Amino acid sequence: MRKFFNVQDIGDLDKALKEAAEVKATPFAWQHLGKNRTIILIFFNSSLRTRLSSQKAAMNLGMNSIVLNVNGDSWKLETEMGVVMDGDKPEHLREAIPVIGSYCDIIGVRSFARFESKEFDYGETILRQFVEYSGKPVISLESATVHPCQAFADLITIDEYWKKKVSEGKTSKKRPKVVLTWAPHPNALPQAVPNSFAQWMNAADVDFVITHPHGYELDPAFSGNAPIEYDQMKAFEGADFIYAKNWSSYTEYGKILSKDRSWTVSSRQMAVTDDAFFMHCLPVRRNMIVSDEVIDAPTSIVIPEAANRVVSAQVVMKRMLESL
Ligand code: CP
Repeated sequence: MRKFFNVQDIGDLDKALKEAAEVKATPFAWQHLGKNRTIILIFFNSSLRTRLSSQKAAMNLGMNSIVLNVNGDSWKLETEMGVVMDGDKPEHLREAIPVIGSYCDIIGVRSFARFESKEFDYGETILRQFVEYSGKPVISLESATVHPCQAFADLITIDEYWKKKVSEGKTSKKRPKVVLTWAPHPNALPQAVPNSFAQWMNAADVDFVITHPHGYELDPAFSGNAPIEYDQMKAFEGADFIYAKNWSSYTEYGKILSKDRSWTVSSRQMAVTDDAFFMHCLPVRRNMIVSDEVIDAPTSIVIPEAANRVVSAQVVMKRMLESL
């Protein structure tokens, strides 16, 4: 595996889920793969889960990890080509990337959407430069349009909890109903998490529905043929998994079109589900995205979901190490 951006990069999902279960059961069984190997994790933006879970996954595989916080620890990096570098950025990605590549075997990059240009963001301009100039396998640790490590962890979590629900005889359905719901937030957030979640759910063996206010339609390249239900209560009916997330408008790029607090996930909406599990990628703003009572309920699985970030990262790194 040379890159991990999209669901297609992981190949067969059943095979990936089986591998994830093996990695979770015996996390240290592949330490020989990482011996004398190094991953460099580049962060243009803040992180808690991605940084720690990626380092833990690397450690489990016997690999060294180096973290670089670009806006704190290193020179500020210029990302645009052809500019006169007379501003506050003394180094260009064009030199920095091959230098970074010369120090490691795998690179992970966190680089959020900037909302300055839809073309720059949706062209994944920064991530593409890492692929082009590093010569090393590249993992998106949430880039402008995707967050594949999160979506893979979400799928692993859904698979685990759906199997549990089936084995406990709590459902007779063949497939789980999974609902991605927009929820309000004070700031304009990127579409990377809902884009990847939609892309992965469209590829998975689930009945997938998206609900959001008008104007929040995702890029169809990610939402595909998933049905959109603008009535949130209707969308929640009979759901097995509720995945809440805020995102800003894709069509009116980066704009906040609604702060409607009636979309905050509360026991009112959860009451019409099929005793659904609540999911969120975290960090989450309580009583904006989700009420305290929903996130604190036994059906909230946000912590095991976050724990599975180690598993998803480890499967991806393992496959990259195997292909070196
Ligand atoms: N879910 C997630 O990516 O969390 P962090 O932003 O803390 O890494």
